[in-house]
Amino acid sequence: MALENIKEFINEFTQSLNKETFVKMTLGNYRGTDEHLQKLLVRFVETKKGMRLFFLYRYNTRDTAKNFDFAESVKIIGELLGKDFFSGHLFTIENDFQLDIGKKGKSRLNAAKPTFKEKPTLEHNREKQILVNPKSFYLKALGITTDRGEVRDKQQDKWKQINKFVEILGSLFDKSELKDRKELKIVDMGSGKGYLTFAAYDYFKNTRKIDVKITGVDTKEQLVAVGNDIAKASEFDGLQFVHGFIGDFDLQNADVLIALHACNTATDDAIFKGITAKADLIVVAPCCHQEIRPQIKSPEFLRGILRHGVMLEREAETLTDGLRALLLQKSGYSTKLFEFIATEHTPKNNMIVGTRHERKVDVEKIDGQIQTIKDFYGIKGQRLENLLSGSEACV
Ligand SMILES: C[S@@+](CC[C@H](N)C(=O)[O-])C[C@H]1O[C@@H](n2cnc3c(N)ncnc32)[C@H](O)[C@@H]1O
Repeated sequence: MALENIKEFINEFTQSLNKETFVKMTLGNYRGTDEHLQKLLVRFVETKKGMRLFFLYRYNTRDTAKNFDFAESVKIIGELLGKDFFSGHLFTIENDFQLDIGKKGKSRLNAAKPTFKEKPTLEHNREKQILVNPKSFYLKALGITTDRGEVRDKQQDKWKQINKFVEILGSLFDKSELKDRKELKIVDMGSGKGYLTFAAYDYFKNTRKIDVKITGVDTKEQLVAVGNDIAKASEFDGLQFVHGFIGDFDLQNADVLIALHACNTATDDAIFKGITAKADLIVVAPCCHQEIRPQIKSPEFLRGILRHGVMLEREAETLTDGLRALLLQKSGYSTKLFEFIATEHTPKNNMIVGTRHERKVDVEKIDGQIQTIKDFYGIKGQRLENLLSGSEACV
């Protein structure tokens, strides 16, 4: 009985692919040998080689992904059902099918009215003139959008952040010396899941038609692996993620360096790498300003204010990012410090932008300003300053 229902389920799956009525499939109730695997999600992806199916293996702490052609997909699903996964949910625009395989060979296959009346929209039906296309495959794979290309409720803040970031990056590019470039090299330090890395790649490559190469760097190996899987499935040939520390990354040259919410002094490591590689644009949105706060010795007349933790926190953030901007200026960059996105979307909202120039810099004057600030607050050391002076190494 179980075998018959599995066969019938596979048959419906195969037909839905042949008739192009397939929407998506989920395998659950995992009882295989991998204690962390939970689910398998299968969706369409359009590649240069034609339509494929994208398999997202969902683990409790991470995801991995791969795409297969239809014949391979049917074979794999046939091998997994009844052996590793004991439930399957197939969505087509004609019917939903729910397969449940119980113990002792018992099973149930139910057909129901379709949840989805339309086929999912694919990435390649690209609308022009919008900065980030919500139908893009990578947004689905990263969990920002649904199969229908609608932004998930829980991801609205991230979505706003992605759009704002692309808008800012595009505008900075247009105002910089890079504006006529047909080739561009970007490095994203502390790329995490790669939301902004993918969006930046998609924007420059597909909207601006620039031959862009982007490398995302992160210490989290799993995020790097999934990022590379999704980049491959999206056919983003010039996008790669590498595993490692920012300080260890051999940045030979880069036109643009970005570091968004790279934790604490990782932002300083990233800025330092950008300065030494002579990147034309350095764009960072710092977070978790932990270095300066414990060093602050409140001046007598500010004690009544800075005794409140929240005020001290803000002061530490202001001083840290202010010093970073001054150090960028000292290193030959004109700087801007502004609010990246309103605080209701994320509390980490400062953005520091440095644009490289060849003009003479009054180093002494800036050094004087930095020293006055440090003396006033009793600050002994700041990571970026130490890296630039050579008193700390970037590892
Ligand atoms: C808050 S997440 C931000 C991810 C991404 N940039 C974004 O804005 O969505 C910070 C990421 O920086 C990475 N990270 C922190 N310190 C790092 C370091 N020294 N080298 C490389 N990656 C680092 C973390 O692993 C994490 O994935």
